[in-house]
Amino acid sequence: MKALILVGGFGTRLRPLTLSVPKPLVEFGNKPMIMHQIEALADAGVTDVVLAVNYRPEIMEARLSKIAEKFGINITFSIETEPLGTAGPLKLAEKVLRKDDSPFFVLNSDVTCEFPFKELVAFHKAHGDEGTIIVTKVEEPSKYGVIVHKPNHPSRIDRFVEKPVEFVGNRINAGLYLLNTSVLDRIELRPTSIEQETFPAMVRDGLLHSFDLEGYWMDVGQPKDFLTGTCLYLSSLTKKGSKLLTPASEPYVHIGNVMIDPTAKIGKNCRIGPNVTIGPGVVVGDGVRLQRCVLLAKSKVRDHAWIKSTIVGWNSTVGRWARLENVTVLGDDVTIGDEIYVNGGSVLPHKSIKQNVDSPQVIM
Ligand code: GDD
Ligand code: MG
Repeated sequence: MKALILVGGFGTRLRPLTLSVPKPLVEFGNKPMIMHQIEALADAGVTDVVLAVNYRPEIMEARLSKIAEKFGINITFSIETEPLGTAGPLKLAEKVLRKDDSPFFVLNSDVTCEFPFKELVAFHKAHGDEGTIIVTKVEEPSKYGVIVHKPNHPSRIDRFVEKPVEFVGNRINAGLYLLNTSVLDRIELRPTSIEQETFPAMVRDGLLHSFDLEGYWMDVGQPKDFLTGTCLYLSSLTKKGSKLLTPASEPYVHIGNVMIDPTAKIGKNCRIGPNVTIGPGVVVGDGVRLQRCVLLAKSKVRDHAWIKSTIVGWNSTVGRWARLENVTVLGDDVTIGDEIYVNGGSVLPHKSIKQNVDSPQVIM
């Protein structure tokens, strides 16, 4: 089988992290975001993955060729000279997607869940129509694509409304599809939206179905949601009793949902958790308090710092007795001085912060 991942542009909503690293390579749960998707696809029998991008992906190419080797799959890049939206890239990659008659997966690169792809394939084959989209329930549907079912039909979609202004329902497009190759006949090679054009056309023909997602789901394309998504992911690992987590019996683990890379060093008398990921080569000093936060590779947290709802970028340093909270995001190689308070700061790479940041702002 084949898959196309919509990787898109520069990931501006995940700045300042994406100023240094392409969004798909930002580590989510200590693993590049896109790895979670590629692993799940390979597991479902996918052999060819197309990454649809609209920039030159040199850095990604190098990293992903190793991943491809590991999973024994082909990964190719389909590069747009102008952004083709969410449908145009399918047409651009038509050759790979039509390699055989089997249906192909399409994934938004910024979503996380347990990726039930095998179940999706079985469901899609059973109904026999042109497309299936995975749906999930959310409380605030207005920033998503909303689906409404045909009356008296459990899965056939009656309406697809992208970013509805008025409430039409709370079951939303999770950004994961399985489509027959005939869908490619509906798409022209131009900037075009699968949500605004292709899905409504398939709905009119009664050929689009929904598949209900079980468990958690999150679009992690912005820092606040990245943190929430991390909590959901760690909770699901806890539920499964995953060995990826640091045992809650460790004296410094508080409550649980803690993932610490084996190469990280943790000082004395720390209190870590719940919902923390600590990447490779990270050094945490003594008496540090960490909760609901992500420490990316090779960052340092000095003694007695207090960090909550924060992403600490690669190679950054947080000073002694510093306090970070309220969706603070440090880019690559940022230094936060001793005893500094940062409240919702988004700090660009290589900056050094020597004064308190009392209210949410971008620090350039
Ligand atoms: N290659 C390519 N080219 N990819 C693109 C382009 C483009 O021009 N534009 C967007 N993408 C990619 C993005 O990188 C992302 O992975 C995916 O397409 C969806 O775009 P977003 O910008 O993240 O859309 P959204 O989050 O507002 O809405 C979409 O996702 C929701 C679920 O998170 C829609 O599919 C909604 O219907 C859905 O509910
Ligand atoms: Mg998105």
